[in-house]
Amino acid sequence: MSTSIQAFRENESRRLGFDLVVSMASMGLKRDTGRGVWPVLFRDIFVLEDEHGVLRHTVYVVDAKRLPVRTTQISDRGVLNTLSAVAKRRVFVDPEFELAGIRHGFSLVVEMTPRPKRQRMSLPQSVRLPDTPEGDRIALGVGPGGPVAMTRKEIRGMIVAGAPRTGKSNLLRSIAVQAARKGWRLFLVDPQDHTFPIAVWERLDPVSVTNCIDGFNAFLVDIEEECARRSRLFNQHLIDGLPPEDLEAYNTVADEALPPLVLLVDEFNSFALRVEFADIARRNQKYGLMCVLAAHSWRARNVPPELSELMQSRVCFRVESIETARAVVHSTADARAALHLEQQGRAITNLTGQYETMQVYLVESGEIVALMQAGATQQFDGRPARVALSETEQAIADAVIANLYGVFSVDRLRRLLAGSVSDRQIRNASARWAAADRRWFEAPIGTGRPLSERFYEQTGLSQPDRAGQGTPLETESEQGGKADQGGKAGKGQENRRNREADEVAWVEGLIARTRAPDRLAGEA
Ligand SMILES: Nc1ncnc2c1ncn2[C@@H]1O[C@H](COP(=O)(O)OP(=O)(O)OP(=O)(O)O)[C@@H](O)[C@H]1O
Ligand SMILES: [Mg+2]
Repeated sequence: MSTSIQAFRENESRRLGFDLVVSMASMGLKRDTGRGVWPVLFRDIFVLEDEHGVLRHTVYVVDAKRLPVRTTQISDRGVLNTLSAVAKRRVFVDPEFELAGIRHGFSLVVEMTPRPKRQRMSLPQSVRLPDTPEGDRIALGVGPGGPVAMTRKEIRGMIVAGAPRTGKSNLLRSIAVQAARKGWRLFLVDPQDHTFPIAVWERLDPVSVTNCIDGFNAFLVDIEEECARRSRLFNQHLIDGLPPEDLEAYNTVADEALPPLVLLVDEFNSFALRVEFADIARRNQKYGLMCVLAAHSWRARNVPPELSELMQSRVCFRVESIETARAVVHSTADARAALHLEQQGRAITNLTGQYETMQVYLVESGEIVALMQAGATQQFDGRPARVALSETEQAIADAVIANLYGVFSVDRLRRLLAGSVSDRQIRNASARWAAADRRWFEAPIGTGRPLSERFYEQTGLSQPDRAGQGTPLETESEQGGKADQGGKAGKGQENRRNREADEVAWVEGLIARTRAPDRLAGEA
């Protein structure tokens, strides 16, 4: 984001700050502290504009020394980093003000007094994963400021680097365990079958796991299909006449909440994908997709700008080359620090809004066993022998051949088989059929994957009659999806423009209702 910062003149800023305090107080947002009510003093108000002069964020800078609450939660790290760079100090968001901001029309309230210097070496050697946080936060580790837990929206996407045995798999498992406990939809990709052994993780619902490139490609097709379906649902749940901005907004209005989709990939760079990965990750973020990509080495070209902006969260364990560290961590000094980390599970991260050291939570195997036991009742149906189809797979295969002209599409199968075969069963079949030992799909076309020759050979099923095929992939879902996206983009922009106009009007309103700045002095 290219951003310019424009500061209000001091008296304007004080008046705005004062009026803001008054209006917050009248909303009941009071703070009682030892020093009385409202010890908060606004020092500056910034307006952040982009290169086109469009108002992006109004930032109220609060004197942190006067805040009774400390926080490491942040809402938009891009903005905070920019502000931080311009102001040449660290900036933070107070969640209570953030909430008020969301409710009452201003974007961010931050405080800028630097925190007390963090102590070196104060981090614990090893910390067990605590109980999974309530709501939609994922606990990640302990930093100098205390425990770090973040929502999907805050994480946005994560790149993980680390030499062998530094803790990459453990971090991925920690995220997977917590997400699974929350019932999030998981896609696990692990070429070594070590981080997420298929035999173990496949037993969980709703989890899909693969160790091969075909399975990974199949997951991406599944994710695209699911997000196309979500796009249609978003259009049926308008908020003020517009589709919800993202999954979290959708879930506030829909009868049935949709879970985030979490794609965890170990050894990401060993996959040569057929598709533009960054594009899929970017388009589907608003439908709930969060990607976490781990690898022992990264090069600048592995993290092109599109991917870098998307995968804002960085976790860099000890790495062996400065090149890897530089590709993952932005500043050279922080990158160098990553070369000298010694402790397992210790990483340089930007999760709290600035780069600092964190001890990642350690997942003990008992946690995974317990998770499997909790989930085992739903799935322990034993894996089918290599080529014999289970009853479910047989039903799916029949439907694909008889109704879908031999083209496997999760979305269409879901509708065809509603009531008899579950979503999970369709997806698990999809991953299993794509796996290296089967290779039952050809390259995807449209929104589905044609069954391969190998499939028909190995199962003994006969191919569909292609004469009556007509136009098999005219696909309502494809066309609908595209139309949806066009409509949404336009509406999204309009929505944003309206909000920006509101924001400007709100600030102007505050200025118009100016009160005597001298009343501020009484506050201090
Ligand atoms: N957060 C942590 N806290 C304490 N110890 C940890 C932590 N993470 C990992 N370890 C220890 O380090 C060992 C290796 O961890 P892990 O398998 O996650 O590393 P890796 O980076 O995935 O290695 P590889 O590159 O070989 O796959 C673990 O067995 C564990 O004992
Ligand atoms: Mg590993």
